[in-house]
Amino acid sequence: MSVIPISVYGDKILRRKAQLVKNVDFLTIELIRNMFETMRNANGIGLAATQVGIDQSVFVVDLSPVEEYEKSKPMVLINPKILDFSEKKIAIEEGCLSIPEVRYEVERPETIYITYYDTDLKEQTFEATKLFARVFQHEQDHLNGVLFTDHLDEDVKKKLKKSLDKIKKREIETEYPIFQKRNYQLK
Ligand code: NI
Repeated sequence: MSVIPISVYGDKILRRKAQLVKNVDFLTIELIRNMFETMRNANGIGLAATQVGIDQSVFVVDLSPVEEYEKSKPMVLINPKILDFSEKKIAIEEGCLSIPEVRYEVERPETIYITYYDTDLKEQTFEATKLFARVFQHEQDHLNGVLFTDHLDEDVKKKLKKSLDKIKKREIETEYPIFQKRNYQLK
């Protein structure tokens, strides 16, 4: 297993829509293992494939480091789709491994119904509430090229612009490896 550098705000891959996974082969399993390792190394609780440069519709979640969720099992969601959501919305502070050091309250539905395939390619449906619903929606967004900052009001976005620009220019320090842009110049 290996830790993969995480793409950060400004990287194009984070804006790309993920492709549906057509079959789960050894490469998919290796990707999933590496995603878990990458997420845990960065102390994250969710990670989408697009964050590690792979435009495949899969994300991993492990809420066990969070108080009151210690017993929750790690989950892999392949080709997830949110089928329905509650009208009731709640505001919870979010962060993102691709947007280091930036946290802000985001309003989202409190409960969602999500369908996905597990690694045995069995279709699963899950009614998610609270933190599960929150993380699933955040990760599902990643697979659609959406970041949590996109949900914020314009004045808040303005307030965060400096921090976001710094991330774009990689004027940041992280405790986990981030994807460094290389200068491919062909002469
Ligand atoms: Ni994120």
